[in-house]
Amino acid sequence: MPPPARSPAAGVRRRLPLAFLFLPLLLLLLLLHLTSSPARSPNSPLLRGSGDGEPRQRGACDYASGEWVPDDDDPAVSGGLRYDQTCREIFKGWNCLANGKRNGRELLRWRWRPRGCELPRLDPLRFLERHRNTSIGFVGDSLNRNMFVSLVCMLRGASGEVRKWRPAGADRGFTFLRYNLTLAYHRTNLLVRYGRWSTSPNGGPLESLGYKQGYRVDVDIPDQTWAEAPSFHDVLIFNTGHWWSAPSKFNPVQSPMLFFEKGIPVIPPLLPPAGLDLALKHMVWIIAVVVF
Ligand SMILES: *[C@@H]1O[C@H](CO)[C@@H](O)[C@H](O)[C@H]1NC(C)=O
Ligand SMILES: *[C@@H]1O[C@H](CO)[C@@H](O)[C@H](O)[C@H]1NC(C)=O
Repeated sequence: MPPPARSPAAGVRRRLPLAFLFLPLLLLLLLLHLTSSPARSPNSPLLRGSGDGEPRQRGACDYASGEWVPDDDDPAVSGGLRYDQTCREIFKGWNCLANGKRNGRELLRWRWRPRGCELPRLDPLRFLERHRNTSIGFVGDSLNRNMFVSLVCMLRGASGEVRKWRPAGADRGFTFLRYNLTLAYHRTNLLVRYGRWSTSPNGGPLESLGYKQGYRVDVDIPDQTWAEAPSFHDVLIFNTGHWWSAPSKFNPVQSPMLFFEKGIPVIPPLLPPAGLDLALKHMVWIIAVVVF
């Protein structure tokens, strides 16, 4: 079975189709804007075809719509891995090959095929060349951390001189020194700020509805971990999803998400899918204000 079908976001997507449309859209908007800015490299491979740098018609391909297919042409099959288990950036517990996962090598044999167009295999040197003097921030949960790690590992294979640091409050980051390309990962589960909530002795609207404890989720406040990211990075890649339906943490009964807007509880209380929609609306707006 293609491993990505089991990605945390997949289960959520079925239930939250609208919310998930926002993210690719946001990403595309940011890329379109940033890559069309004359001061910046206009050559993002994401917006190009597989030919000799012939620009693909913008908007012609929805890269978010497609499927995972077995990659029979992949040199990984004949030994040419994009990177392997020795890439030090791979988080220990997630290093399938080093940990001897039985189908570890099988997992390498899938590639994403967008509907109606081809996504060329990433060429690390070309990517480095095209993104000189650029800073790219991945903002999100472990799914985006994996995307970040994957890109770092592929690029490190082509250029090993890196400086490890934490730009703009990132969890981790690297600058590829010969190209002055910076990649950073900003860890955030919900994109927005949240913290423990419990009843106040003075009472309040949530208390009168019977809530005793939970998580306060401020739908209009970006998580501190990436608050500086939009003014720092040239390209931003966001994800969220899994944590909005993670009962191990946000148990609907014992520790529900309690949404706050402008510092006061949203009444009547929203269920997580509606809270996610609201949070995304606010975040898109906030990012747009900083970026555009
Ligand atoms: C990157 O910055 C350096 C130093 O500021 C400059 O010489 C070089 O032309 C820049 N490269 C690109 C591709 O913008
Ligand atoms: C390196 O790239 C950043 C953008 O990420 C740019 O602001 C900075 O001027 C560049 N530094 C040099 C020495 O070119």
